[in-house]
Amino acid sequence: MNTVKTVRELRAAVARARSEGKRIGFVPTMGNLHSGHIALITKATQRVDFVVASIFVNPLQFGAGEDLDKYPRTLAADQEKLLQAGCHLLFAPTVEEMYPDGMAGQTRVSVPQLSEGLCGASRPGHFEGVATVVSKLFNMVQPDLAIFGQKDFQQLAVIRALVHDLNMPIQIIGEPTVRAADGLALSSRNGFLSEEQRAIAPEVYRTLTRISDAIKQGERDYPTLINEQIKQLEAAGLRPDYLEIRHALTLRPATAQDRDLVILVAAFLGTTRLIDNLHLNLDATS
Ligand code: PAF
Repeated sequence: MNTVKTVRELRAAVARARSEGKRIGFVPTMGNLHSGHIALITKATQRVDFVVASIFVNPLQFGAGEDLDKYPRTLAADQEKLLQAGCHLLFAPTVEEMYPDGMAGQTRVSVPQLSEGLCGASRPGHFEGVATVVSKLFNMVQPDLAIFGQKDFQQLAVIRALVHDLNMPIQIIGEPTVRAADGLALSSRNGFLSEEQRAIAPEVYRTLTRISDAIKQGERDYPTLINEQIKQLEAAGLRPDYLEIRHALTLRPATAQDRDLVILVAAFLGTTRLIDNLHLNLDATS
């Protein structure tokens, strides 16, 4: 596996693969790779001939006071994992390479409506930063398909919308969240948790499954259900940012008549913000 740091080298390597008739798959990441990321790479190796990953901790998607500076940077270990997983090319640019003219005047991509509420409400500008960097990366790599984790459910919806709205010929694939044995969704931010916090963290997923089970059993009073579960999260030692039931496609607040639902949560444990979600289609057979 080759690692390149410039757009020029990236384009040359992808052009070589294309000239050999290869289909290109792309997995954008911020590094500190865990089994969830590796599942995306594995999926890509099954779908295309040439897999490109990127590692870039994008300052544009972090707000003031967020964890940009302490976000773990583990390039050597990441390279080894990508190699083992069958990745062909890693693009690991610097901030200057991605934003050579600085960020203040950078053209932005924003996806209204889908970016509002949920994580968009507590992280103003976050999805504009994500949509902008993903658009840039898509234009640099020009992949046939790109793969993202469903753990970032709202992010995936935003990326699907931008690709559709800006007519990018890229297939977007969402892959199921990879979880620890106790249910905690894998995340680079889990590394910030103390031993005590790590023991509490699975309560986030337990909350989602309790809500999902209640809905499956016919509960439709969503405000009461949510209020009860917010109290449980607080009792367990978490500080909920949001806990909501939304329509899975539009992300609008769910009505009692909606069948395709997603339950989304963000909660703080100390200063670490954990997010998770559970997709629940009441019309699905299994
Ligand atoms: O999900 C992430 O790791 C990031 O938001 C992404 C998609 C790589 C954009 O920086």
